[in-house]
Amino acid sequence: MRIGLVGAGRIGAFHAATLNGLAAVDQVVVADADASRAEVVAKDLGLQFAPGVDQVLAGGIDAFVIAAATSAHAELIGKAVAAGIPTFCEKPVALDLAETQRVVALVEKSDVPVHIGFQRRFDLGYQAARDQVASGALGFIHHIRANTNDAFPPPAEYIATSGGFFRDCTVHDFDILRFVTGREVVSVFATGANRGEPFFGEYGDVDAAAALLTLDDSTFAAVSGTRYNAAGHDVRMEVLGSLGSIAVGLDEHTALKSAEAGVTFPGGEPHTTFMDRFRPAYVAELTAFTEVVAGTRAVPCTVRDALQAFRIADACELSRREQRVVLLEEIGA
Ligand SMILES: NC(=O)c1ccc[n+]([C@@H]2O[C@H](COP(=O)([O-])OP(=O)(O)OC[C@H]3O[C@@H](n4cnc5c(N)ncnc54)[C@H](O)[C@@H]3O)[C@@H](O)[C@H]2O)c1
Repeated sequence: MRIGLVGAGRIGAFHAATLNGLAAVDQVVVADADASRAEVVAKDLGLQFAPGVDQVLAGGIDAFVIAAATSAHAELIGKAVAAGIPTFCEKPVALDLAETQRVVALVEKSDVPVHIGFQRRFDLGYQAARDQVASGALGFIHHIRANTNDAFPPPAEYIATSGGFFRDCTVHDFDILRFVTGREVVSVFATGANRGEPFFGEYGDVDAAAALLTLDDSTFAAVSGTRYNAAGHDVRMEVLGSLGSIAVGLDEHTALKSAEAGVTFPGGEPHTTFMDRFRPAYVAELTAFTEVVAGTRAVPCTVRDALQAFRIADACELSRREQRVVLLEEIGA
């Protein structure tokens, strides 16, 4: 199949390389608002280059991959749906809830498959945790701890259009929390701080945050994250149940050192970016997308799933700003 990819930045270049390696993909054509970026990525990977989005959409593609900045997602999904082209779009769907809801309405009215890129759903550890929760092996779940700690912050220009820490970063934890537990969040209390570079605060954002979420079965989930974790890119989840517990992301690469004498685990090299932490998951995710395009599987992460995760992120942002508990029902359903 021939795939058009728009957005040749950090994740776009990475997805272009992944797509290029998939058996189901014959050709990838790359574009970016900054044409020179697309040209460089296309040249480096031996792909086709298009001077703009419209040329990609009109260029006889079977599928469309959106890896542009978040602020461009809603418009690009709209164009792809109008052209009837199956689409994969990076998270989040839009910068705000109203726009996200408009996209959900548009996509659900159409029969164009739109797959949103929450790659943790394709990570074998999270899948194992989900299976153990669903089987009852862990008993009832009382607590979950989830974290997304980036080794170093993205550039200031990225923060300007990212939507803020909860919508950009911990939104992955919110999505995977729903995926692993099969439950919905009913309330949140969140807080955050800017202790790193001042540009976060200048954009009204934070570089570290924590949230306490209550799920609809009274499970408590503590979600935390930072943009400054020099020990490594550290993404984990602990699921603690009445009969057992399980940890996702606890392996030789975990960016932690034990304080106990004689304990050498974890002894491996920590991950430094989301690319090395989730490489196999990104490959599985885009492979799944090609199956969606081929019509052999249902969309594994829908715009409605993305809306639910976004509502939790919005609730956390409101909670942080107003320093109060926010009920999910306050955030437009
Ligand atoms: N799933 C994940 O793990 C993950 C990881 C990183 C980023 N992301 C998401 O991917 C998206 C891109 O992030 P990034 O880190 O690659 O950002 P980036 O800033 O490195 O790249 C964004 C690219 O989009 C281009 N762009 C902006 N507006 C455009 C438009 N209207 N049309 C075409 N191109 C346009 C920019 O020129 C830039 O090259 C964001 O939405 C982000 O949330 C997801």
